[in-house]
Amino acid sequence: MVIFAISGSLRQGSSNTSILHTLKSVAPAGVEFILYENVASLPHFNPDLDNENLPQEVKELRGMLNRSNAILISTPEYAHGIPGSLKNVLDWLVSTVLLENKPTGIILGSASEGNYARESLIEILKTMNAKVSSDLVMTLPGARTKNDDPNTWQELKSFIEGLVLATQPLS
Ligand SMILES: Cc1cc2nc3c(=O)[nH]c(=O)nc-3n(C[C@H](O)[C@H](O)[C@H](O)COP(=O)(O)O)c2cc1C
Repeated sequence: MVIFAISGSLRQGSSNTSILHTLKSVAPAGVEFILYENVASLPHFNPDLDNENLPQEVKELRGMLNRSNAILISTPEYAHGIPGSLKNVLDWLVSTVLLENKPTGIILGSASEGNYARESLIEILKTMNAKVSSDLVMTLPGARTKNDDPNTWQELKSFIEGLVLATQPLS
């Protein structure tokens, strides 16, 4: 069981990246957690390269997603939208089926509730046929203060358990 995690913030000391590290540490045993570290070095999306000229970084991104069972995104809201670097990652996946039916957990770690980014991200992911459900969407307003909070850890533990459960077929 592999979870592919993307942080929407490139900032050193990012609370969203920190949230992903916490999720990794509280994930159930046996879960492999890939924290994608090449958001900043991924080329800008260009449809002219989305063919046999695919950049190596994109091949690697797609390879990691291909062996993942679930996606996890933790992101701030920037200017009432999602960060451009995160949108760039997603744009490289539009021509693939790599998100199709994959359970996707979304965390909005922003100063505010991040309502604009949430709606926009859900719309993008649904357009790409990712499996998004309201119980796997979590908002963390005041994100910078949340990662030291034991109540938040407990919520994050339940959240990651829910994401793992969503990958398992109903019996
Ligand atoms: C360029 C920029 C735009 C921002 N716009 C918003 C916004 O629209 N809504 C919001 O709630 N917070 C906004 N913020 C504040 C971020 O949500 C906050 O800094 C958050 O902690 C960033 O996440 P990080 O700690 O993972 O880097 C903005 C921050 C920056 C740097």
